[in-house]
Amino acid sequence: MQPVIEVDGLCKDYRQRRRGRVRAVDGLELSVPAGGVFGFLGPNGSGKTTTIRCLLGLSSPSAGHCRLLGADAPSGLPGVIGRVGALVEMPGLNPGVSGRQTLAILATTAGIGRSTVEAVLERVGLAERGDDLVKGYSLGMRQRLGLAVALLKDPEVLILDEPANGLDPAGIREIRELIRRLGDEGRTVFLSSHLLGEVELICDRVAIVARGRTVTTGTIADVLAAARPTAMWVKVTDLDGAARALGAAGFEVLADGDHLQVVADPDRGEHVTRALVAAGHFPSELRPVESSLEDAFFALTDEPVEVGQ
Ligand SMILES: Nc1ncnc2c1ncn2[C@@H]1O[C@H](COP(=O)(O)OP(=O)(O)O)[C@@H](O)[C@H]1O
Ligand SMILES: [Mg+2]
Repeated sequence: MQPVIEVDGLCKDYRQRRRGRVRAVDGLELSVPAGGVFGFLGPNGSGKTTTIRCLLGLSSPSAGHCRLLGADAPSGLPGVIGRVGALVEMPGLNPGVSGRQTLAILATTAGIGRSTVEAVLERVGLAERGDDLVKGYSLGMRQRLGLAVALLKDPEVLILDEPANGLDPAGIREIRELIRRLGDEGRTVFLSSHLLGEVELICDRVAIVARGRTVTTGTIADVLAAARPTAMWVKVTDLDGAARALGAAGFEVLADGDHLQVVADPDRGEHVTRALVAAGHFPSELRPVESSLEDAFFALTDEPVEVGQ
């Protein structure tokens, strides 16, 4: 099946007054299959918004190609954009009308019925506050109204740029559950985030980007496998003695609290045990150092990322 989103060698240069030419996106590659939630993960400034803007025809690439539902961006977008809902940065909303009116106006313009307006208000959790003016909305409520706008046309693809920005923890949880449900309904949700926790919990697949390039992509399990544990935790009574014995047997050892960390593939656990027992140390624990998406991210990009919640 054809990917829903394809990005091939995308480059985007900006001219900045102080820094001169800045390469915001530098040969980025993406292939997003149909259905489910795809996380586009990278630290701030790694080129996520710029990529999404190119994909939606809001910005022109300096080099490379973007395709959305098989159509080239920007030339082919008019033929497919009706099947795509997007939320990029803060939605430009009229502060002087209510959330319900905002949606009603857009629905009328697009020939969409009033029942759909009520349904999307309900979905994003704004039904009760739907008659309040937008200027009285919190950042999170505006973000949810933006998502409601994106959902009005019942899109098969949703492109959401950092949808959890500005939301409080309860709001983040709600939006996360909503996104997961949208993915489970067979839609394709493409979600950018600089928060690992957000992506780890709801995405089927991820691409990790750093400095405008794709560092790795695949299922969460694939990405974790790429950063397979290469160390073991060992617990023994005499940490110093055991560390010396392992050192003498050729292992690199780090002390970490009441454990030792032995830098070796967990497949070599038997060798570690043998070296310890030969020197009279009997381990009470020996287990692989678990890797998280955070470890994988750090191992692959050498950049810290916020874990979020
Ligand atoms: N309109 C612009 N003009 C100049 N530089 C920009 C512009 N938009 C983004 N950049 C620069 O491009 C880089 C990537 O930005 P962006 O795509 O917003 O990253 P992200 O969304 O991952 O945080 C940053 O260095 C940013 O300063
Ligand atoms: Mg951004």
